[in-house]
Amino acid sequence: MASLDEFLEWIRCPVCGGNLARVDSSLLCEQGHTANVAKQGYVTLLGPKGGTHTADSKEMLAARYRVLAAGPFEPLGIALSKAISSVPIEKVQGPVVDIGTGTGQHLERALEDLPERLGLGFDNSKFAARMAARCHPRAAGAVVDVWEQLPLVDGSVAVVTDVFAPRNGEEIARVLGPGGVAITVTPGPGHLGELIERFGMISVDSEKERRLEEAMAPVGPALRSDRVEWKMDLFRSEVADVVAMGPSSGRLDREDLEERMAALPERTPVTGSVDLTVWISTE
Ligand SMILES: C[S@@+](CC[C@H](N)C(=O)[O-])C[C@H]1O[C@@H](n2cnc3c(N)ncnc32)[C@H](O)[C@@H]1O
Repeated sequence: MASLDEFLEWIRCPVCGGNLARVDSSLLCEQGHTANVAKQGYVTLLGPKGGTHTADSKEMLAARYRVLAAGPFEPLGIALSKAISSVPIEKVQGPVVDIGTGTGQHLERALEDLPERLGLGFDNSKFAARMAARCHPRAAGAVVDVWEQLPLVDGSVAVVTDVFAPRNGEEIARVLGPGGVAITVTPGPGHLGELIERFGMISVDSEKERRLEEAMAPVGPALRSDRVEWKMDLFRSEVADVVAMGPSSGRLDREDLEERMAALPERTPVTGSVDLTVWISTE
């Protein structure tokens, strides 16, 4: 966990956009708006309209943590690492910001790949912000609603990562410095298809590619896009975690879910498919 003081040159008051200074266990702007720093180290930077969207629960995040730590999504992690290590950002100053950071495991990896940078994990779940704050010695976590104005200085960020999270292209474009990059990871065709069918989970939006391009258009052109496809062979407990970490988890009937889970074979073959796109800021 890094000290929030190291981030004060980049973060701004979510209410008025003013500079923030550390006062005891809070961050305070010149107009007297207070951002609370929790004892677990994360800061809440919600604007006046923020915090109204659904956030991941503690249980969803615990399931996601186990899945990412166990390895079935490793091809995604490796692809993300390769992309981060190869982006041409030597001349771009500023931190890495992971939007909708979840457990912070992708942010942790990004910071390993960028040894000179600090990293901020934004999520509207306080449990996620807490995990992000602890994910790496150069990381901090903040409760932020990414559909609102991001609490960051214009042009101050070198890299934005967004893995399976909401994409507010206008705000990403505003905070990226010239030559900065955004890396998005979105589900590809057939991603988790076997589980979506079996458990009635939310399926991939068929208009996804068009929506992604529309959302990211304010940032600049896509430098490149790679599809990563792989096969997983999941134990029952891993299937349960993949179902529990996703947005469908709260909608599924528990009894029905347990019955379907019990009917699974020892190992279930599951498709992984993601599109990783690198966008370069032209501003
Ligand atoms: C599908 S999870 C992905 C988490 C992580 N990026 C990963 O790939 O493991 C989406 C994350 O976005 C967060 N999220 C959803 N809506 C949000 C919002 N409006 N502002 C900030 N975070 C949001 C959720 O709380 C959740 O942690």
